[in-house]
Amino acid sequence: MDIKKLAQESIAAKEFAYTPYSHFRVGAALLTKDGRIYRGCNIENAAYTPTNCAERTAFFKAVSEGEHNFAAIAIVGGAEDAGQLDYCAPCGVCRQVMMEFCQPETFQIILAVDEENYKVCSLWELFPFGFGPDNLQERDE
Ligand code: THU
Repeated sequence: MDIKKLAQESIAAKEFAYTPYSHFRVGAALLTKDGRIYRGCNIENAAYTPTNCAERTAFFKAVSEGEHNFAAIAIVGGAEDAGQLDYCAPCGVCRQVMMEFCQPETFQIILAVDEENYKVCSLWELFPFGFGPDNLQERDE
């Protein structure tokens, strides 16, 4: 996996962030296991709660095109007027959406500041003991 390229894609995705209320701009780049990349940005709303995070935008674009196998996501974000960006970790709702489609031990979450500076975590590290599809599997007694 080319982490630098994925980080660059997330920076490009951030260009389209629609953030008239928070002025906090986020970009995400979601990598499928077969090498495709889906970009997402946060999209805010005057009613506030319909706001969609960058990560979920990327996931919903991908899933709506038939993708279900994901390897990694790069995320970059920060306040519009911030000089230096900090790591932007995904919110709990986005972690839950990742849990639906990704293997927690192997799915990689890249928290990027730029293509040179990033941290890599697994979904399990950010969302330990998360509830997912496996919890709804019926077990044979
Ligand atoms: N946001 C994201 O897009 N992703 C995150 O990981 C954290 C938060 C957005 C939602 C909202 O538009 C703004 O950042 C401030 O919360």
